[in-house]
Amino acid sequence: ERPAETTTKRVLLAAPRGYCAGVDRAVVAVEKALETYGTPVYVRKEIVHNKHVVETLRERGAIFVNETDEVPEGARLVFSAHGVSPAVRASAEARSLETIDATCPLVTKVHKEAVRFAKDDYDILLIGHTGHEEVEGTAGEAPEHVQVVNSPDEVDQVVVRDPAKVVWISQTTLSVDETMETVRRLRERFPSLQDPPSDDICYATQNRQVAVKKLAPECDVVIVVGSANSSNSVRLVEVALQSGARASYRVDRKAEIKDEWLEGATTVGVTSGASVPEILVQDVVSHLADHGFGSVEEVRTATEDLMFSLPRELRAGLKAAG
Ligand code: F3S
Repeated sequence: ERPAETTTKRVLLAAPRGYCAGVDRAVVAVEKALETYGTPVYVRKEIVHNKHVVETLRERGAIFVNETDEVPEGARLVFSAHGVSPAVRASAEARSLETIDATCPLVTKVHKEAVRFAKDDYDILLIGHTGHEEVEGTAGEAPEHVQVVNSPDEVDQVVVRDPAKVVWISQTTLSVDETMETVRRLRERFPSLQDPPSDDICYATQNRQVAVKKLAPECDVVIVVGSANSSNSVRLVEVALQSGARASYRVDRKAEIKDEWLEGATTVGVTSGASVPEILVQDVVSHLADHGFGSVEEVRTATEDLMFSLPRELRAGLKAAG
């Protein structure tokens, strides 16, 4: 009698995944602000786009608001990792708020590009998602010069003043491949389109996409841990599907995984967006182990050791507090 056929059900765990340097800095900034100054500490918008992180900080006393006018005069306000426009800074100043700027330095870099190209009177094509906080902040640096291009399909609608003086910049958390397609079509229309001085899509976004591309072809399903409003997490689902995963789903936490996704699967890929704490990924991995996916193999395509120092205002405050 032949033994029953056994296939090893396995998990391929992408690396790098999860927290990037900008998210780590922003979350620690709120934690330190709470420790140093006590409550209330106000935070404009979600500090990073992750439900779990926001809920945890809220429990510790952070108060999340949508706009500066919800913050009492003179109170302490943290700007989120996604950055803010000069108009928001001005309104915080008008209310005499004590601000702590947790904008990711890699977002600030793109702001500076927008300012510089606007000063040189370029038409700036900002590739990104309308309505995303980062795009609002970057566009707000030079509203007269910036127009947002959401996707390759929008390229035909772009109107510029002088086709010889056009530059593209981008949101930091886009799909690399789709962005390159948008740029290719833009260049067809504007052959002298200028590139940004360096990559605007950040290292963390790029690394997470490369890792998921590597494991996706072997996967029946790829589970991406991340929140619905997290741009880079949503992109990971798209990249997994484009790279050969048979299915891919985004979940905030393990409870959202449906048993039917795992039916008949032998290989499940797991990754997480740049705003996702590792504990949520480990929860997913143990959930999969409970469903027979006991072997876990890491698929690593890069190592990351970048770290950013805390916001300047906070460092000064920490020093003063001893
Ligand atoms: Fe910054 Fe990129 Fe993270 S822009 S916040 S390092 S996803």
